[in-house]
Amino acid sequence: MARGRFISLEGGEGVGKSTQLAALEEALRRRGFDVLVTREPGGSEGAEAIRRLLLEGEEGRWNARAEALLFAAARSDHVAKTIKPALAAGRWVLSDRFLDSSLAYQGEAGGLGIEAVRDLHRFGSEDFLPDRTLVLSLDAGEGRARARHRDGDEGDRIGGRPPSYHAAVERGFRLMADAEPERVKLVDASGNAETVTARLIAALGDLLQ
Ligand code: TYD
Repeated sequence: MARGRFISLEGGEGVGKSTQLAALEEALRRRGFDVLVTREPGGSEGAEAIRRLLLEGEEGRWNARAEALLFAAARSDHVAKTIKPALAAGRWVLSDRFLDSSLAYQGEAGGLGIEAVRDLHRFGSEDFLPDRTLVLSLDAGEGRARARHRDGDEGDRIGGRPPSYHAAVERGFRLMADAEPERVKLVDASGNAETVTARLIAALGDLLQ
């Protein structure tokens, strides 16, 4: 059986990622693929337990290194228990966030450096990578305004960090797209939902042949 494809969808806060995830799932199903939708942090029983440790509680609950290790540990379990078995069964896996979130949030915005976080992934998941990473990209100010509108002013431990942190996340995603242009595609998240979905599908073009 042919191995399925692994796609991750990324983006900062308030770029319309949930809407686009559902639209992309639907578009792939219409093309006849058996699609598994999953998310990070989470996507397996152990990783969902780690998700609660990461997203709940005080902002200062974890130091930057512990936070990065927890994301890497959750990802290791998610890859081993959920993603790899689905791909081996010929399914397409669509993940709401994956490694590039750690590179942008913990690596670039959190100050650990992208290479240090990539090293954690080399150890935790043997550097297992998506076939394609789609990054929804908006001017950071616009994204934050949308997220505040949706969530009220609160957000989770990480979503609630200051605008300078979220601007650095956006920069981190751009650095990833520059460093790995074949795998990581920046997709303009402005405009109506249908237009953005069409851009996402176009950025998957070669994989859909
Ligand atoms: P979630 O509620 O899933 O938010 P979103 O709708 O923005 O995807 O919360 C995930 C939060 O965790 C989000 O603020 C991004 C952050 N995050 C990291 O900092 N590093 C990571 O590796 C991942 C996967 C997520």
